[in-house]
This record gives sequence, C-alpha cells and structure tokens, in this order.
Amino acid sequence: MTINTLNKNNTIIDFEKIRADFPLLQRDMNGKPIVFLDSGASSQKPQYVIDAMNDYYTNQHANVHRGVYRLSQEATDAFEKSRRLAQHFINAPSEKEVLFVSGTTDGINLVASSYGRKFLKEGDEVLISAMEHHSNIVPWQMACELAGAHLKVIPINDEGELLMEEFDQLLNERTKIVAVNHISNSLGTINPVKEIIEKAHAIGVPVLVDGAQAAPHMKIDVQALDADFYTFSGHKVFGPTGIGILYGKEKWLNAMPPYKGGGDMIETCTFEKTTYNELPHKFEAGTPDIAGVIGLGAAIEYVQQIGHEAIGQHEQELLEYATTELKKIEGIRLIGTAKNKASVISFLLDGSHPYDVGTILDKLGIAVRTGHHCTQPLMKRLGVPGTIRASFAFYNNKEDIDKLVEGVKRAKRMLS
Ligand code: ALA
Repeated sequence: MTINTLNKNNTIIDFEKIRADFPLLQRDMNGKPIVFLDSGASSQKPQYVIDAMNDYYTNQHANVHRGVYRLSQEATDAFEKSRRLAQHFINAPSEKEVLFVSGTTDGINLVASSYGRKFLKEGDEVLISAMEHHSNIVPWQMACELAGAHLKVIPINDEGELLMEEFDQLLNERTKIVAVNHISNSLGTINPVKEIIEKAHAIGVPVLVDGAQAAPHMKIDVQALDADFYTFSGHKVFGPTGIGILYGKEKWLNAMPPYKGGGDMIETCTFEKTTYNELPHKFEAGTPDIAGVIGLGAAIEYVQQIGHEAIGQHEQELLEYATTELKKIEGIRLIGTAKNKASVISFLLDGSHPYDVGTILDKLGIAVRTGHHCTQPLMKRLGVPGTIRASFAFYNNKEDIDKLVEGVKRAKRMLS
C-alpha cells in the first residue's frame, strides 16, 4: 500500500502529503480547488480503496459462498478477509458477530425490526436521545408501533450534551433497549456511551450504539464498551457507499429472528419449514455487495495504517483552530458546544439562512452541509431551522479552515 503520509523515518504521519492519496481532492469545484468539509455526510476515497474494488471486478469476480471452483473461493477469501479486518477494527470477540449490512441505517433497522419482533411487547419502552439522526429514531418508532411500545427520549442541555441524571430517571424495568449515537452528526458531541451501557446493563437492558460518526475518528472497541450492538457505515470510513457493519453479541443475534429471508441464510429449506444458517450468515440473505465489502476491507487497512491516535490528534487540532477562528467572526453562533467534541462544527450567521451561506461557500469551492442534517427533532429542541456544518477528516488542513473562515466573512458581507 502506498500511503503518502509517512515521513522519511516512516514513523510520523505527514498529513500535508495525505491529500495525494485521494484523487477527488485534486479536482476543482466551481473553478476553485475543492475544500471538502462534508466528510460527516460521506468521506472521500483513497486510491487504495478504488484499486481494491477495481481489482475485484477485473480479476476476481465470482459469487461468494457458492462455488467449488477456484475463482469463487478466491472471491470468498477476499470477502471473508474483510470480515476479519472489520472484526479487528472494532475489536469484536468473534467474526460470527460481524454482519455486513448496507450501512448504519440498515444496521439499526435490522436490530429494531428483529429484536423488536422478539423482545418488544405492549407497554415496553425504547430509550433514545434527543440528538439522534432520523435513522436512529424512525426504525424504533416503527418497532414501537408494531409492539404497542413507547419511545422515550433522553433530553439534552443547550450545549448539546445528554442530561445523564434524566437518563437515570428514564431507565427503568419497562426499558427493553437503549439506542444512542456515539457522536452526534449535527453537533459533534461525543456521548458517554460507556457510562450509558454500564447503567443499562446494571438493570439488564441491552444498548445499541450508532457509530456512524465515531468510526472515522476514534478507535472503536466493542469489548471495552461492552456494547450489545454497534453499527457504522463504510462510506464514512473512506470506503464505498452501500456497505456497513453491524456488530451484535452472539447471545442476542442467536436469539433474534432473521431480518431478511433468501439464499445463504438457510440451513435447510422445505415448503413446510426452514431452519436457519449459523451466524453471521443467518442475517446475510442474498448475494452481498462483494465489491463493497472488499472496498471496506481496504479502507480499514488504510485507516489502520495511519492509526487512530494520529488521526484523533490531527483532527482535534483542526477542531480547536476552526472553533477559535470562527468565533472571531462577529455574528457567528456555534451550535453544539459540548466539552467533549469530535471534528464537527455547526454554526449560524446572524441574519442569514444556512442555505444562503452554503450557496456562497459553494461558489468559493467550499463544500459544507446545510439544513437539519436528518435531525429535525434536535433542531426543534435547539430552536434553529438548521445549521451550516463543517465536518473535518484527516485529509483536511489549516488552509482549508482559513478558506472556510474567509468564505464565511465574505458571505457575511454579501448577506448583511
Ligand atoms: N448522516 C450523514 C450526515 O450527517 C448523511 O450528513
């Protein structure tokens, strides 16, 4: 693997050179060199990932788990290697507990539907937080509706932090599962998921963690967290779209009914009765996204080569620099000022609509996300229509932030 990040001693990551690994970052947008500050929505891909997927389609393509011929076995080996890479990426005890899903949304839907069918009854409660993405709200609403259960919400303070004493009050014998994000996509708040899991486990309640925004930024250790379910998307960890991981403890996955029926998930099938395959195949019906799985494996190798420690340190520097510089602009209001934050900054500019600011930034080659970020209940709680959100990855640098700050100043001049 060629990573343009090692210095001459091959030890320290040179983040100034890292952009060369990402072909898309070499292009222009609206005639300006692109400043990509929307990795929270989807990150860019290193050439290593693109090559791995091309190589599969060019030299290795066959269906997996089905053929006795060499090519199918080679494809199966490459596919299952990615599962082991994902297992180590999150420190899962067993590869049986690592399921390929189409993304975080799919992972949460699988658990809400399957766990819900088995364990949710009338009068039960599902506990989520006020800063969840729609994908960690709606599947639970649907499961609650089917079962006659109730959705409860952990409130937040104005800084965008969970009110843990309220969580303590809401957690009770009717709670059947807690589902929270590790990092808020809209605010960047890093939530105390270990504490949440400890408290939930103290009364026997399992916890699902939506790790979509955490996996690109920090080391995930599902054993240290003792998470029952942990899910994230490939496309946010520098891999392809359409693929993701759901980790689930074997005891839960064995107890839960399959989510989808079809090929590969059966042990025996007759018209009268079907018995199900062992884990993880029980939850993987149909031909999977093989190229996506291989691309995700390559992305994990790439991220691990850089290392989470270096990534975290670089991104924290960017976050601190951006926060300091943006705060100097009169009329800026930061939305989400938690003490413990990842590299996401949401803000508003007095007297301007986020969409107008985003449009001006776009003309300057700066990509940010504007709007409610699929967290309408959170926006309502904070009393804002939406925000302008800049989200950083390790390929960003201070120059990107300087351009953002200049862009916001320009938007202010144009809109005031
Ligand atoms: N959930 C992604 C975001 O926050 C799409 O932008």
